[in-house]
Amino acid sequence: MEYLIPFNKPYLSGKEIQYIKQAVSSGKISGNGMFTQKCQHFFEERYGFKKTLLTTSCTDALEMCALLADIQPGDEIIVPSYTFVSTAVAFIRQGAKIVFADSRKDHPGVDEDRIEELITQKTKAIVPVQYAGIACDMDKIMAIANKHRLLVIEDAAQAIESFYKGKPLGSIGHLAAFSFHETKNINSGEGGMLAINDERFIRRAEIIWEKGTNRAEFFRGEVNKYGWVDIGSSFLPSEISAAYLWAQLENLEDIQNKRIHIWEHYYQGLKDWSIKQGIRLPYIPDYASKNGHLFYLVCKNLEIRNQLIDYLKRKGIYAVFHYLSLHKSDFYKAKHDSRVLENSDRYTDCLLRLPLYYELTDEQVDYIIHIIRNI
Ligand SMILES: Cc1ncc(COP(=O)(O)O)c(C=O)c1O
Repeated sequence: MEYLIPFNKPYLSGKEIQYIKQAVSSGKISGNGMFTQKCQHFFEERYGFKKTLLTTSCTDALEMCALLADIQPGDEIIVPSYTFVSTAVAFIRQGAKIVFADSRKDHPGVDEDRIEELITQKTKAIVPVQYAGIACDMDKIMAIANKHRLLVIEDAAQAIESFYKGKPLGSIGHLAAFSFHETKNINSGEGGMLAINDERFIRRAEIIWEKGTNRAEFFRGEVNKYGWVDIGSSFLPSEISAAYLWAQLENLEDIQNKRIHIWEHYYQGLKDWSIKQGIRLPYIPDYASKNGHLFYLVCKNLEIRNQLIDYLKRKGIYAVFHYLSLHKSDFYKAKHDSRVLENSDRYTDCLLRLPLYYELTDEQVDYIIHIIRNI
């Protein structure tokens, strides 16, 4: 079905083709060229990450985290169940056991107060997901991690340009992974980034990024030949992707202003209605900012959520649910202990996301609000 209002339209600045042409005509279109350097420098300057490496996806950046954390078979990783598969699968590939945590009652992010009870002698890392770009309580998570000497790997797939107590998300954990998939605020079709905040990991990350070689050091003239020094893979994107991403980064502030404007528009238009209906809108704790990544409703039950999706569909509006609890997935359900994760299951059943993209007009948002309010 052709929707009047789709769920997402990838943002285009209009300069993507120009920069791609520039990359192509430069004769250097493999990875780690001028556009890759420009993007990485931009992120390091703007958010204070010690080092960034563009990757071909957030999934790849998470896989790099699993390698850097030296995850071994049997190690345990604490991951919220309400997340995308990549948050878990990156660690599963190293033989880790995933210990799924529940979400908060007031927010789909991990319940920080229930993390410590999941820690055992085998726990290696906590992976908080900054859902909808809304921060987890990172002070609490870092305090638990420091007490038990664990790594914190932020899944910041949705969290570009969002903050916790004024600190950029992705800059607090030891490592962080971002996504530039076409559904994200800034995108390169498929794309991602590893952000490194703990300097211990920088040298090895560059090697893992470049197939286990020290080629990055060679290109900088730090060694006079390069060779195979460690494990790794081909995690770096081509200059074509980086050129596309650069065209978006140049417009980051404009993109963010527009998305936050749409988010506010939905919030103001649905606030009083949602209270009357017993439907919840996103909750933003005092310590968190919003980055306009997504706008969601939490309905009273699965039936109401699905009816709302169907009704909006009939009116030409494409609204979608989100994650399915990973502890109940076909792949993991037999491996999960018997703990019930009721909040994760509630968001699985009851959460619905409304269209949110740069080109969405005020009139369209008014139309969606009108349709929802008059259901
Ligand atoms: C929380 C989270 N982590 C990881 C990913 C994977 O991102 P990518 O598609 O860039 O690999 C997603 C995808 O949307 C996500 O929502």
